[in-house]
Parts: sequence; structure tokens; C-alpha cells
Amino acid sequence: MATKAPFAPSPLLRGVEAQIDKIGRLDRLDQAGEKIDQLLRQPLRQPAARNALSGTWFGHRLHPALTQVATGALTSAVLVDLLAPRHPQIARRLIGLGLVAALPTAATGLSDWLDVYGKARRVGLVHAAGNTLALMLFTRSFLHRGQLHKKRGKRGGGRLSALLGVAVLTASGYLGGHLAYAEGVGVDHTAFEPDLEEWTDVAAEEAVPDEGHLVVAANGLELLLYREGGRLRAISDRCSHAGWSLGKGKFENGCVTCPGHGSVFSLEDGQVLAGPAASPQPCFEVRLREGRVEVRS
Ligand code: FES
Repeated sequence: MATKAPFAPSPLLRGVEAQIDKIGRLDRLDQAGEKIDQLLRQPLRQPAARNALSGTWFGHRLHPALTQVATGALTSAVLVDLLAPRHPQIARRLIGLGLVAALPTAATGLSDWLDVYGKARRVGLVHAAGNTLALMLFTRSFLHRGQLHKKRGKRGGGRLSALLGVAVLTASGYLGGHLAYAEGVGVDHTAFEPDLEEWTDVAAEEAVPDEGHLVVAANGLELLLYREGGRLRAISDRCSHAGWSLGKGKFENGCVTCPGHGSVFSLEDGQVLAGPAASPQPCFEVRLREGRVEVRS
């Protein structure tokens, strides 16, 4: 007899995941995606905009943090409608706050979206479309609740729009969660790399070129060894932004520029000097012993 798993996802949720999978394979979305990319790439990929919107200055991706403000305010407005219907002005102010917060939230999300491809890009596009629809519904709700729409009978429309808006926002938020937790968009791609707690032999000293670099594998890690001015340094080779190999990047002035999306990291301590990365590269101690290079976290 088959074992019944009490905590397995319900058929409904499995169906939702199957639909998201279908969205990810809808290559008809690519044409629209390409047009939006062309429109946004120029303004959002200026260095200042990229660093600001990616969260490089914040040390964390900015989009998830701002999302809390926008969705929190909009959802709270609907709760006020349901639980405290005699305070429509509070609900209206919360919607106003959510709409204002939605602007930088959308900008950070679009900035992150520019750096994803394939399935994640298509799901991201539908996520953005859902959020746009939700914001339109909340804008309608906000206007209905305004001074010009105080006549009897109009307020109900504002509440209904907000209720529909929160339903669309929830569905769209589910897609956002899928992007982060299933597609790995916005996560630090070095997060699951193991620590090297003991000194670990990774290469012969002579294998690391003078004024050059070498990528080596050690205990499930890809490490970038770099020698300059006779000094050896080691950081993780996998870019924290989206996992490209830094060993294939450009090396100059003690920094490496990622070939993926142009993040710049210090080879001294792995710090991010330019985005879109927001997390530093893991950095390792290095020592030479009997002609061998050893590293540890
Ligand atoms: S993978 Fe995107 S900047 Fe490195």
C-alpha cells in the first residue's frame, strides 16, 4: 500500500507549480521580453542606477526589502477595510503609501530581471505584469476613495478594487517567491559553498602564474588563486551574483570584473566594488608550504 505523506503539497499546489513551469516554457513571451529589455537596459544599466537598484550599497538585494513595504501597506489597507470599515481614510493612506513604495520596488525588480534568462526571465515577466495589474486596481481604489468620490455608493467600488488587487498581488507574489526560492534569482550564489575549516592543499605553487591567476577545485569549491607582486590571494571563483566563473573575467588593479554582468570584486578581500552583485565573494587565507598552496576559510 502506498504511504500517505501528510505534508506533501496538495494537488492544487502541484497544479500551480505545473502552471508556473508552463509559463517558464512559453517562448512566445521572449519577444515582449526583448522589447522591454531594449527599453530599460540603457537607463537601468548606467553604473549609478545599477549599483543603487541592485542593492550593492546596501549589502543585500534591495527588491525583497522594498517588496515588504509595498505589499505590507497594500495588504494592510484591505485588512482595515475588512476589520475596521469605519476608518476608510486609514485604508486610503495605506494604499497611498503602498503605491509610492511600489515605484522603487518595481525599478529594483526590473533591474534584477535584466540579468536573468530563459525560464526565470519569462516567469519574471508574468510576475511584473501581475504586479502592474494589481497596482492599477489599487490606484483605482485610491481614486475612488478620494475627496472627489465621496458620494454614496462609490466607496464600495474602492473596496472591491482593493480586494481584487490584493488577490492579484498574492498570485504575483507567489511567482516572485518561485523566482527566488526555485530559480535562485537574487540569492547569493556562494551561499551553499562549504567552509574550508582546515588548511587544505589546493595547488602546486609553481602552477599559479606570476602576475596571473588559476582556478582550482578543492572539497567541492572552485577557488580563484591570484598572484600579484609575489603575493597570493584566494577568493571563491563562483560569482555571488549569478554564479559565473570569475576566472574568465578581467583582472586589473587588484580587482576582477565578472564576465557575467560586470560586477567588480576586490581580490584583496572579495568586497563588491561595483554591482549588480550585492554580496561579497568568500575570501580565504593562503599559505605556502613545501612548494604547495594551502588555503582555509
Ligand atoms: S554573474 Fe552576474 S555579475 Fe557575476
